[in-house]
Amino acid sequence: MIRERFRQLYGEYPAAVYSAAGRVNLIGEHIDYCGGKVLPAALSLCCRVAVRPNGTNFLRISATDLEQTALIDLCRTEDYRDLRWWKYHAGVAHTLKQAGYVLVGCDLLFDCTVPFGSGLSSSAAIEVATAYALAKMGGNAIDKRELAVLCREAERGYCGVSCGIMDQFASANGKKGCAILLDCATLESEYIPIDLKDCVLVLADCNKPHSLLASKYNERIRETETAQSLLSRRLPIGCLAALQPYELEEYRRLLPAVIYRRARHVTSECMRVQRCVNALKAGDLSLFGELLNASHRSLRDDYEVTGFELDTLAEEAWERPECLGSRMTGAGFGGCTVSLVKRDGLEDFIARVGAGYLKKTGREASFYIAEIADGIIEEDA
Ligand code: GLA
Repeated sequence: MIRERFRQLYGEYPAAVYSAAGRVNLIGEHIDYCGGKVLPAALSLCCRVAVRPNGTNFLRISATDLEQTALIDLCRTEDYRDLRWWKYHAGVAHTLKQAGYVLVGCDLLFDCTVPFGSGLSSSAAIEVATAYALAKMGGNAIDKRELAVLCREAERGYCGVSCGIMDQFASANGKKGCAILLDCATLESEYIPIDLKDCVLVLADCNKPHSLLASKYNERIRETETAQSLLSRRLPIGCLAALQPYELEEYRRLLPAVIYRRARHVTSECMRVQRCVNALKAGDLSLFGELLNASHRSLRDDYEVTGFELDTLAEEAWERPECLGSRMTGAGFGGCTVSLVKRDGLEDFIARVGAGYLKKTGREASFYIAEIADGIIEEDA
């Protein structure tokens, strides 16, 4: 379908079709910007892009769900920061150019199945798909880690959205059937095979626009920076994630109460990531589930990034006998929960959690089964 649409729009078939994945973070929430280890996985929900060089110095960009086409002059890539939809694409082009990549004019058509505003990283998927397509068409050598770093730079520097490296890294480097244990301080990573036996991962979108997201997200970043700088007077820690729980207790008096709780989330979440990796390696799914629950409680009570809708979804899931664990995933304040659910109780789970959520919030949740897929895919013609 995307190839046909491309031909209708631009007169020829695309030279290539690529896709970059959305992501679910299994555990390790709000610690990537503190230098912690996180455990995301790429999803089969993705952003596809059909592309063809057009012999000009312009990018012509369109999307299957939008009427308008944008024109980006490759000589003036810095000028598109105010565009609503297309600033991510322009920002990636600009950042790649600054980094010395050869860019050629192209026609591009995007088709994104990652729901927008769902906390499943639609923007990272768009950025990585754009970066990969442009880098390929320009004949550049591809390093997926570097692409992730450049995409994050585009989101921060060009689009003005603070974020850690997790989403772009997972989108670019995801591997089918595996989560990525990513050390955000060093960018070293390890694939952890995910064998869910008789369970599946269910994503539930609370369908609440997360309006507070940007301001609260930035506030949390500042709070963790404050924690680190106050503690650094006594402790030589390079990043907050390096802080051990016993050290936090020992120096607790240095921190105002709220800052202490933020730091406690960071240290406890770092421990949970390690325990979760061990549980997955040992095939202990009930421990994995318990860790999901503990992560949600910490994000709710210590980090305060959940909110009524996500808490309700998690609590409804915790009530269900077929559910081994459930937590919010992503930045929070809206978006999705991820739950570990027995396959044979799946229908009941969706029906009961959906009904309970509707009754308490007046909103319909959307459910997806998370399929863990490759990050970047080059589709066959
Ligand atoms: C957003 C950011 C990530 C990460 C998560 C929270 O998805 O883009 O870098 O900080 O929130 O874990």
